[in-house]
Amino acid sequence: MDNKKNIVLIGMMGAGKSTIARLVSAKSKNFQYLDIDKEIEKLAQKHIHEIFAENGEGHFRQLEHEMIVKYSNYSNQVIATGGGIVENPENINLLKKNGVVFYLKASVDELYSRVNRAYQGSRPMLNHPNPKHRLKELMGRRERFYKSADFEIDTENKELVQIVDEIIEKYGKITG
Ligand code: S3P
Repeated sequence: MDNKKNIVLIGMMGAGKSTIARLVSAKSKNFQYLDIDKEIEKLAQKHIHEIFAENGEGHFRQLEHEMIVKYSNYSNQVIATGGGIVENPENINLLKKNGVVFYLKASVDELYSRVNRAYQGSRPMLNHPNPKHRLKELMGRRERFYKSADFEIDTENKELVQIVDEIIEKYGKITG
């Protein structure tokens, strides 16, 4: 099997990273789906919200960084990252070494309506009296780092299949 650069999805909570990563891997030959949050949960034997509650955000960020150090050396992966990987700028540099990075973009209003439909308790970063305000604040702090991706993909008003095809097409063009 050819060694192919990873396809890495970054962006805020609610951007659709895990769903889209799964679909991209299903549609691309020889690519495995890998979810950094799931790998952290396997390693810690706890859910993300339990790691935050019992060990704090700093410990979670450390585990997240360790996972990125490990998996940035792999090939042929479609990697869904957690929204906060940009909190440590070194993470993006590592992921870029052997990966093409896509920023899945959506407005705060759209992100909020998507996360609001999902179970809030599983997202400790939104454990806040005003989760929409919190999303806005996080976006304000993180967006310039998301924008250091190789490609920016607007996810609003698009079918999932369109987003998947756009990623595969852009990846193909850059990797030949
Ligand atoms: C986080 C996003 C989550 C998860 C953790 C922290 C963040 O992942 O890694 O709760 O800081 O934005 P998703 O972006 O997949 O929700």
